Amino acid sequence: MTDKIAVEKLSAAEAAGELKRLAKALTEANLAYHRYDAPEISDAAYDAMKARNLAIEARFPDLKRADSPSGQIGASPAEGFAKVIHRVRMLSLGNAFEADEVREFDTRIRRYLGLGDEAPLTYTAEPKIDGLSLSLRYEGGNLVRAATRGDGETGENVTANARRVADIPARLNDAPEILEVRGEIYMAHADFEALNARQAERREKPFANPRNAAAGSLRQLDARVTAERPLRFFAYGWGEVSAALAETQMGAVERLAALGFPTNPLTVLCDGPEALLQHYDRIEQKRATLGYDIDGVVYKVDDLALQARLGFRSTTPRWAIAHKFPAELAWTRLEAIDIQVGRTGALSPVARLSPVTVGGVVVRNATLHNEDYIAGRDSKGEVIRGGKDIRVGDWVQVYRAGDVIPKVADVDLSKRAEDAVPFVFPTTCPECGSEAVREAGDAVRRCVGGLICPAQAVEKLKHFVSRAAFDIEGLGAKQVEMFYKDDQLPVKQPADIFTLKERDKKNLTKLANREGWGEKSTKNLFEAIEEKKKIPFARLLFALGIRHVGEQASTLIARHYGRWQDFVAAMDGACGFSGPDWDGLLSIDGVGEVMARALVGAFAEPQERAGIDRLVRHLTVQDAVRPATANSPVAGKTVVFTGTLERMTRAEAKARAEALGAKVAGSVSAKTDLLVAGPGAGSKATKAAELGIETLDEEGWLRLIEGA
Ligand code: IVH
Repeated sequence: MTDKIAVEKLSAAEAAGELKRLAKALTEANLAYHRYDAPEISDAAYDAMKARNLAIEARFPDLKRADSPSGQIGASPAEGFAKVIHRVRMLSLGNAFEADEVREFDTRIRRYLGLGDEAPLTYTAEPKIDGLSLSLRYEGGNLVRAATRGDGETGENVTANARRVADIPARLNDAPEILEVRGEIYMAHADFEALNARQAERREKPFANPRNAAAGSLRQLDARVTAERPLRFFAYGWGEVSAALAETQMGAVERLAALGFPTNPLTVLCDGPEALLQHYDRIEQKRATLGYDIDGVVYKVDDLALQARLGFRSTTPRWAIAHKFPAELAWTRLEAIDIQVGRTGALSPVARLSPVTVGGVVVRNATLHNEDYIAGRDSKGEVIRGGKDIRVGDWVQVYRAGDVIPKVADVDLSKRAEDAVPFVFPTTCPECGSEAVREAGDAVRRCVGGLICPAQAVEKLKHFVSRAAFDIEGLGAKQVEMFYKDDQLPVKQPADIFTLKERDKKNLTKLANREGWGEKSTKNLFEAIEEKKKIPFARLLFALGIRHVGEQASTLIARHYGRWQDFVAAMDGACGFSGPDWDGLLSIDGVGEVMARALVGAFAEPQERAGIDRLVRHLTVQDAVRPATANSPVAGKTVVFTGTLERMTRAEAKARAEALGAKVAGSVSAKTDLLVAGPGAGSKATKAAELGIETLDEEGWLRLIEGA
């Protein structure tokens, strides 16, 4: 969309705000889709959000949130099914939307492998089936386990259900002793229609689409229900295997077909990106007549040895990508603009819409980003949407792709009422009346009320008890809101949670006698709170909800300082934003200046600090430890690569070293543990020799990490 704020134009504040909204929206979408089989947004919108999140993170790596959705796959398994830990993780795919992104995919791979532009490189191209992935484990040719993807590491055991699917063989002949076949469970259109007709006859709720129907049918606790549902399966990959299936992707898929699995007939070999794009067009043209849903085309490097060299990023393979079909738009009426106040005081305008279906999903709310966006300007004051502002009552276009939760993309001026007035963005906080200020260079207006603002205080508390933070059972968003307003047992800040029990003892009306509470739930709550008094350093830091300090950053910081006391001392030492403690903070890979300032600033702010100190007095903070990477001779070591590497590119060497738990640095210093020097190594090798640092050539390095 031309009027979307381009990622290059986002200010840091806008980016942070957007990443936050993206994290929330994607997490919700993940749960809705994977756990509850009831998606609230279309897949295209989901992919677009994910792509935008990645693009913003690439531009603002320091703003990457601890709860960043870029590293998540799916959602953790629901209760009810036994859990299965995947021996080989079930990964997700990176996405491409434009032809150029497909060309870049090829360029990236060539660069990583050190292949020239002309070197032959073959890919497979096949439809991306819109179902849910399933891993089938065969031992000695017998189907022993079937598991859903879950969060990629742990899935649900759906063996009994998978046995009822006709496409899935119960026995294989001539298969490797151990073979995990991976593929997609889906429902054909005709079967879906028939199922929904049956649902209607039985006065049961119809399924929204074939994917939901497939997911709901496979994840039935009663396998007899699965048996009544016509599920199908396409095999396209594998997990653990005791003997390689083939040397190429295509060969492996053919082998799976020979073993009796359905494989997709539209799988072809292509000799480069242009051929891939042609096949994409071909598949897109056939899409409507296939008889089952697909949402794009998947491209994979055909040579399995190259796939192995390319390996994975955190949750996606470097050797494959999904080229998705485009997203959708719809028009509807803007009923109202509400202002929400977040944990950090940001005032976010939300569009309340007349419900409208976009890509099969009903949309009621959409983001309006900030006041400039409503006024028709980007964060730099430049005109967007041809300068059209957005007014309550307008006929607006809702767009559900490259962004967070749905977005209002355009306005139809021909339908604007004569008496429509420009929206006046508040300059005071709608929740506490404090001034809402916009700092220079910040697109976001923020309430300056801090903890006196009930909205900020409550949002902070909600964050504090959230799953990645203190995760106190029985104390969720709803209860926090209740306690915040409670006259007798108020919880206004985190420390108050840990005095609840004592205070309740002194009160005349006991919590257990209140509506909605009883002896048991009160006892459970107090126990759950007691349990969390022992808390890991990283969780505590994340729970404080300091701006820019997400879960991942909290882990990095905790590992760096090890002990909470040492960390606090360093924050005090860094309060002038200079000196060794400041430098020490900035030396952490993943901590940038923006985050460091927010962190030091929070500890230096008297009121906030008093709250933290008060809280910590109730806690036992557990030290953070660096995880040991099993079998890795280089875990925790700092490695520098220099000179020409002949067996791999620098990117490949770095990725491999990092995967083995090493830190890869760009220059040699006293902290360097190992230098890997290829031909042409210059000053770095000299310096390493002077410092007495162990130096290996490429062969030596490969021998060292062999088998790790
Ligand atoms: S390959 C290492 N091929 O798309 C990744 N996935 O968005 C292996 N999917 O989790 C996946 N059709 O559930 C692959 N032809 C295909 C696919 C396909 C559908 C699904 C699969 C995967 C998801 C990623």
